[in-house]
Amino acid sequence: MRKLLFSVVVLAGTWAFLGPKAGASVLNPFRHFFEHHEPVKPKTPQEIKPSWALGQKLYVRACESCHGPKGNGEGFWGLPTGEKAPALNHLNPRESTPEFLTQMIAQGKGMMPQWSLVLNRVQIESLVQYLRSINTQDTN
Ligand code: HEC
Repeated sequence: MRKLLFSVVVLAGTWAFLGPKAGASVLNPFRHFFEHHEPVKPKTPQEIKPSWALGQKLYVRACESCHGPKGNGEGFWGLPTGEKAPALNHLNPRESTPEFLTQMIAQGKGMMPQWSLVLNRVQIESLVQYLRSINTQDTN
């Protein structure tokens, strides 16, 4: 009898502790008590402050497809309307101001998406920095 009780305790204990790790235990709802928690990863400074590097990264991911790798308007996506996205590397002085670029990126226009839906202020400011750096007619 003692032996039986002992093995039940051992088995139940083992099951309780190994079960959650094996992922098939009725203790699953409580598994967060057993598992080690990674602390929430703090944001890196690059993600908090606008930066050229972040702008470049975002440009490649979000803008290149329409505006082209060098901002020359040679994107590989033809727009459904048949038009082409404009080149961004020789904007006129009015179009290359931070205010104009920020507004254009955030609000979009026609086939230009409204990026404020998915990008935050830091990301948009970073894109503005990047665009101004690739702009050959930037007089501002
Ligand atoms: C789906 C294609 C598409 C994508 C993706 C796209 N754009 Fe555009 N963009 C356009 C089109 C089309 C226009 C022209 C809008 C108009 O004037 O009717 C435009 C215009 C612009 C302008 C104004 C240019 C000018 O001459 O006035 C800027 C600045 C710009 N886009 C930046 C961006 C940035 C930054 C991104 C990435 C976050 C981006 N675009 C992603 C299609 C796109």
